[in-house]
Amino acid sequence: MGAMQEDRSAGNSNDDTRVTQGRYDRQAGLFDFMEAPVEFVAFKSLRKKLWSEVSGGRLLEIGVGTGKNLGYHPEGSRSVAIDLSPRMLERAVRRAERSGSQVDLILADAQHLPFRDDVFDAAAATFVFCSVPDPVLGLGEVSRVVRDDGRIHLLEHVRSGNSIIGRIMDLLNSLAVRLSGANINRDTVSNVARVMKVDSVASRGFGIIKVIRASAKRASTREPIAGSEPGR
Ligand SMILES: C[S@@+](CC[C@H](N)C(=O)[O-])C[C@H]1O[C@@H](n2cnc3c(N)ncnc32)[C@H](O)[C@@H]1O
Repeated sequence: MGAMQEDRSAGNSNDDTRVTQGRYDRQAGLFDFMEAPVEFVAFKSLRKKLWSEVSGGRLLEIGVGTGKNLGYHPEGSRSVAIDLSPRMLERAVRRAERSGSQVDLILADAQHLPFRDDVFDAAAATFVFCSVPDPVLGLGEVSRVVRDDGRIHLLEHVRSGNSIIGRIMDLLNSLAVRLSGANINRDTVSNVARVMKVDSVASRGFGIIKVIRASAKRASTREPIAGSEPGR
């Protein structure tokens, strides 16, 4: 319960991944405090709704952060949760110990998951693929480790569909990445569609928040997955 294990592939990847890891390590101590207002106003209810649809069995959470979702993992599921940042993960470990969550917490990179193919029944992530340096590579890894037709549940913020707001998000993106580690102008729905079958997408928050439900492995994605373009 809550024990932190280390996967050695984390930290051996490229510079962008190390920079992302450092950004989250540095903000780990203040992360929950800084997110508290938006958590209270919107994120908490969105998390609850997303997790109410996640089925039990062997479950993978990607980018567990400080462990805000741990209390929502379905009862009886055999959960594994990973994160790239040791400092964020330490907080998740403490949270799991306090609440008695039955979860294995592992330091790992979503872009190189340390699991065999098809070992999970389902996967979920909240506000993660805005930060993963190569989101398509990471999503491809999730698709690989979830069994065929296993469900993948994502809650993500994305670039606005409004052209003016979208352009402003483009202009502010590099500042947002430096300050928080998160890209604010990604087209995560398209990124998901490159490697999985998108079953449904619901929009919230003026279209900036997306609840994406997908199924692992389209028939054509058994071949190696190419990375996404930089900045996407
Ligand atoms: C915005 S936080 C969200 C944390 C948590 N899911 C939540 O909803 O509060 C993004 C998280 O993704 C993690 N992350 C970023 N890139 C990652 C990668 N390549 N592999 C695993 N985790 C990653 C970060 O370390 C951070 O904990």
